[in-house]
Amino acid sequence: MEVIILPSREKANLLAAKLIAKELREKPHLVLGLATGRTMERLYHLLGDLHREGTLDFSLCRTFNLDEYIGLPPASPYSYRHYMNEHLFHRVNIDLRNTHLPDGMAADLQTACRHYEAMIAECGGIDLQLLGIGADGHIGFNEPLSALRSRTRPKALTPATIQQNAPLCGGEADMPKRAITMGVGTILEAKHCLMLVTGSSKAKVLAQAVEGPITSMVTASALQLHPHCRVIVDAKAGAELQGKEYYNWIFRNEPEWAEYQPLLEE
Ligand code: F6R
Repeated sequence: MEVIILPSREKANLLAAKLIAKELREKPHLVLGLATGRTMERLYHLLGDLHREGTLDFSLCRTFNLDEYIGLPPASPYSYRHYMNEHLFHRVNIDLRNTHLPDGMAADLQTACRHYEAMIAECGGIDLQLLGIGADGHIGFNEPLSALRSRTRPKALTPATIQQNAPLCGGEADMPKRAITMGVGTILEAKHCLMLVTGSSKAKVLAQAVEGPITSMVTASALQLHPHCRVIVDAKAGAELQGKEYYNWIFRNEPEWAEYQPLLEE
């Protein structure tokens, strides 16, 4: 794992956008794994800006989202399909036929989950998986006790997640209590992972995920097993990390980060 701590939320978003843009420029057919949630909004808008400026082309890119609520039609303003259209897909030149989310409306959810895994495999697997972290330490909707080898499947959401996401879903009463999510095992098969975490409310759970034991109680901790996982955080989210000085030293001194070091300047 590599942890990069940047002074502000905006700088953390900028670095994430630059890293994704670099991958997409190097590999126009990139298979990108995507996440939703408040953390990603600014990042997606920055990617939209790069496209508008004419420096980022999504025409050949293929995407797979981590999760989708069960029982919400794609047209619902609270569906993750709607979120993705709004925040990213309609802002760039991606072919919507190349964008995929689990089918939370499928009559047979198990078959839909197997189909989702098969589509990812057909595309050659995910090149770069973008991730956030939930209040309960989840990645995707892999709630506490999710098997670390789990695959795409329906999952009941925890009270912590329902509380976290209810404001984005028109309140707790209307919010779906189940979702389809890629499994921890599915996520760990991505060639590269990039987790973006901002804000003080995530500081404690981030420290558990990065520096604590690998445990299904905090599924983000499974990323410690991934050979190419970068974690980009702002100073607030990084506040409880024990190894801060070491992580900062690496970012300031390792040649691979040289082009991004200006982001440290306030
Ligand atoms: C959503 C997802 C979740 C979120 C996490 C953080 O697709 O995969 O794991 O990344 O719940 O959500 P925010 O950014 O709203 O705090």
